[in-house]
Order: sequence, then C-alpha cells, then structure tokens
Amino acid sequence: MSSIYDRLVNKEATLAVIGLGYVGLPIALEFAKKIKVIGFDINEKRVDMMRNSIDPSNELEKEDFDGCDIHFTADLNELREANFYIVAVPTPIDESRLPDLKPLIGASTTVGKVLKKGDYVVYESTVYPGCTEEDCIPVLEAESGLKFRDDFMVGYSPERINPGDKVNTLASIVKVSSGCCEVSAENIAKTYELVVTAGVHRASSIKVAEAAKIIENTQRDVNIALINELSIIFNKLGINTYDVLEAAGTKWNFLNFRPGLVGGHCIGVDPYYLTHKAKQLGYHAKIINSGRYVNDSMGFYVGKQTVKKIIAQGKNPMESRILIMGATFKEDVSDIRNSKIVDVHRELESFACKVDVVDPHADPDEVEHEYNFRTIKEAGSDYDAIIVAVNHEEYVGLDESEFEGMLKDGKGLLVDLKGIYKGKINRLEYWSL
Ligand SMILES: NC(=O)c1ccc[n+]([C@@H]2O[C@H](COP(=O)([O-])OP(=O)(O)OC[C@H]3O[C@@H](n4cnc5c(N)ncnc54)[C@H](O)[C@@H]3O)[C@@H](O)[C@H]2O)c1
Repeated sequence: MSSIYDRLVNKEATLAVIGLGYVGLPIALEFAKKIKVIGFDINEKRVDMMRNSIDPSNELEKEDFDGCDIHFTADLNELREANFYIVAVPTPIDESRLPDLKPLIGASTTVGKVLKKGDYVVYESTVYPGCTEEDCIPVLEAESGLKFRDDFMVGYSPERINPGDKVNTLASIVKVSSGCCEVSAENIAKTYELVVTAGVHRASSIKVAEAAKIIENTQRDVNIALINELSIIFNKLGINTYDVLEAAGTKWNFLNFRPGLVGGHCIGVDPYYLTHKAKQLGYHAKIINSGRYVNDSMGFYVGKQTVKKIIAQGKNPMESRILIMGATFKEDVSDIRNSKIVDVHRELESFACKVDVVDPHADPDEVEHEYNFRTIKEAGSDYDAIIVAVNHEEYVGLDESEFEGMLKDGKGLLVDLKGIYKGKINRLEYWSL
C-alpha cells in the first residue's frame, strides 16, 4: 500500500483539521491549495462564516479561501472520510492557572470516534512534554478500539505563527515536526513540507517537539519578566528603562527584550503547562514561576503608578478620568483573550477612578462579555491621564498635540507603556515602563 503522504498528494486520502481558530484555519487553507481537506470545528457559527469565506479570527482575507479544496463542517459523520487528522484546538489554563485539557480531550474523543486503521493524528496545540502520549493517545485508543502504532500513528508538530505578523507566515517559518516512529515521522514531515516552504525540522521524538515549543514561549516570558523587574527598579532610581536598554543594547550579545504587559493565550499561558508538568515530576520551577509572578503583576503595577502620579499632581483619583488606549493583548490584532489591560482597568477602578478604554480593533460586545466593561470606538475628552497600552498602528504616529486635545485643559499625564513616544513629549508629564 502506498504511504499516507502519497495518498494525500494523489487525493486518494483526505486531511482534516480539527479546530479552526488562529492556528487551524491558516494551516487548513494552506493544505487545501495542494490536497483535499476537511475543516472541522464544533462552533457551527464559525463554520458558517468560513463556508462564506470569512475568517472569524479576522486574520485572513476572503481571497485566502479562493481555489481551496476544503469542506467546512461541524458534523462528525463527515469527518469519517479523513485519514490524516491535525488537531489545533485551544489549550488554555483554568482559574487556578492549571492546564485545561478539556478542548484537547474533546477533540481527541471526536477523532477517536472516526479513527480507522492506517490513519494519522498530529497534534499542533501547545502542550507540556508528555501530553500527547500520556493524555491524548489513551483517549484515541479507548474511543476507536484501535491500537496505537499497530493500527494508527501519532505525531506532534507545534505551531509558530504570530497573529498580525504578515512577514513571518506559516509558509515562511521553519516547522518542527515529529512522529511515533521513523516512518511516521518522515510521512508527517513530508506532508508539512507541502506547505511550509521554509522547511521542516524533524525532532527526535514527540516529547522533544512538545518541549521545544513550550520553551520558546517560556524563554520569552522569563526574559520579558527580567526586563519588567528592571523597569520597576529603574523607576525607583528615576531613570528611563528605554534609555538603559538603548545603552546596554550597544553590546553585541545583549538581548533585545522590552518591558510590557504579557497577555494573550501563548506566552502568558504556556509556561504554566511546563511548571505543572515539572511539579508532577517533583520539581518546583522557581525561575519560570518567578517570571510568571512578575509579568502577571505588571498590569496592577501600571495602574498603581498612574494613580500615584495623579495624586502627585494634586488631583483626587476619585474625581479623575483616565483613558486607556488599547484593549487587545497586542498590537494590530482584535484578540482580547487574556489581555492584561484588564488588570490596569481593575486597579484604576479599585481607586474609584473613572476609566474609558478605547480600541479600534477590539469588539466592544466581546470585551463586555469577557471582562464586564465596554470599550469605546472613539476617545472622549477632558481626561486627567492617558495610558497608551498597545502600540496599534493607529497610535504610533500620534503627536503631543493630539494627546493635549484629549486631556483636560490640554494638560495631564501620558503613560506610554510601549515607549513609542519617548523623546517626543515635551509639555505633558510623561511616564513609561
Ligand atoms: N494563536 C496563536 O498565535 C498560536 C500560535 C502558536 C500556537 N498556538 C496554539 O495553538 C492552539 C490553538 O490556538 P488558537 O489560537 O488557534 O485557538 P482559537 O481559540 O483561535 O481556535 C480554536 C478553535 O477550536 C475550536 N474548538 C474548540 N474545541 C474544539 C473541539 N473539541 N473540537 C473541534 N473544535 C474545537 C474552537 O471553536 C475554535 O474555532 C493552542 O494550543 C495554542 O496555544 C496558538
């Protein structure tokens, strides 16, 4: 019998992507330019949008659906046709910051129900090392009645796409892949090579591939935490962090990290998967947890610093109006998941300040549903302080007079979390991390 790769290429086999979000939809469409694809999602509303060439995550254009051999469905029966399953469902954390594997186990149950002899399952969701083999494969076996390796193959290939980034795209980022044996590893790598022009790195095992992904984000989180901690120290010293970074950055091996709020569903979440696994193995990860503590505290720190500066101006925080510009977890995206702006907002409200949050990208209904406050589309006026929290394209070019226009009597405080206006603010009181 020919290999799964040959069957996919000859359209004798079908690839299915389970979970069509930021990760799943782009990979499904990219494959659908080359081979036959089923796009499966449990959310019927999202499936309907995709059938009409609309990306519910607002990342892709209508044209990206053109010429794709893809069938979108929420019907389990239609999944039976597939032979190569890619799982790209969310892997969030719960209220106790522990891995929430419900979507992953749900998707494994779905795939298990339709799995046939000779099929492949590749997980793309970010997980701790060991998750695929210890948590997912038993579900596939139990649901299908089939035996792992004898009847079906499993692999892991983490996703590295960066939402909002039009330069580093799925095709242009080297992909890490792995399989459960030499043959499966090669078939999986070759399949990804159909769409990833930058190439595929063959990791030596599933666990190695899982660990590689989780440490990419953990390394970033810890590095940003260090710079955040330094920025707290520099604030006490009365020096500007960006001035220090500019000076230190002239050394060839100084790493270029900046302070800021670490939100979103990857960098602020994935390290908890690793610390959870470490704890299970009897090791308490001190550095990673310290980094998480620092980064998770930054929103409250920014709120408190803003209030202190308002008081120092002789104003009563209870009577002050503050504008936060930006609600999404990063620039130029509409994604508000795990946005740390919420912590800034909560801290300011705990001092009874009146707070408006404006964002051109965030959906006000979604923000209200998630966080119990609404964003506004246009900033008002007569504010005592403005916090520019996200460096959206729309904000980068603003000048001092535009902020003066929004502030009461043209005076007040500008908090520039991303340091985008450094050296450009002369009349207003200016503070950055
Ligand atoms: N978004 C990113 O930038 C990014 C980058 C790299 C890795 N990742 C990882 O990729 C995974 C997916 O993240 P995402 O951002 O694409 O998530 P997402 O929330 O954008 O999309 C997930 C999709 O899965 C669907 N879904 C949930 N449970 C399901 C189930 N049981 N069966 C079928 N569909 C289901 C949802 O309806 C949704 O459409 C996560 O593990 C994440 O950590 C994300």
